[in-house]
Amino acid sequence: MRHPIHPMLVHFPVATWFISTLGDIASLFTGGQVGWVAGVLLAIGTVTALLAMVAGLMELGKIDQQSPAMKIANQHMMLMMTSWSFYAISLFLRLEENHLIQPGAIAIALSVAGLITLCIGGWMGGKLVYEYGVGIRSN
Ligand code: HEM
Repeated sequence: MRHPIHPMLVHFPVATWFISTLGDIASLFTGGQVGWVAGVLLAIGTVTALLAMVAGLMELGKIDQQSPAMKIANQHMMLMMTSWSFYAISLFLRLEENHLIQPGAIAIALSVAGLITLCIGGWMGGKLVYEYGVGIRSN
């Protein structure tokens, strides 16, 4: 394939995680269904991020080890893995006998931490593409 599939796959976790964190914060004020919907979106984001990671690792293998882009790519990868871990633990904390329950304070805090690392990691991903031309310029 001539162009990477990673950019196509990242939209699913980015969108679902982002709305999920907003839902978590909203659930502090509203309770009820909002927290449950946030949990469903969180689960979708956590699974689809794994697909994005596989595609990202395939792109990582194409970057020259000595290039300055490699350092940014590694930082991007670490941040995305950290974000995934925050969200995965947040999901785990709101599961009770395979049912989603209202997120507690720690689950919501982890969701917010996941969003912060997601934003920084996404910024780094953009840097890779738009500053270093990874995936768009043939080196
Ligand atoms: C952990 C393994 C990951 C690796 C090794 C990785 C690697 C890369 C690489 C090499 C690029 C630049 C080339 C391309 O777009 O294919 C990139 C861009 C990007 N990545 Fe990742 N990535 C990973 C995980 C993720 C995850 C889980 C997300 C989202 C939740 C994500 C979001 C992005 C975004 C938003 C861009 C910029 C795309 C664009 O603007 O076109 N990455 N990543």
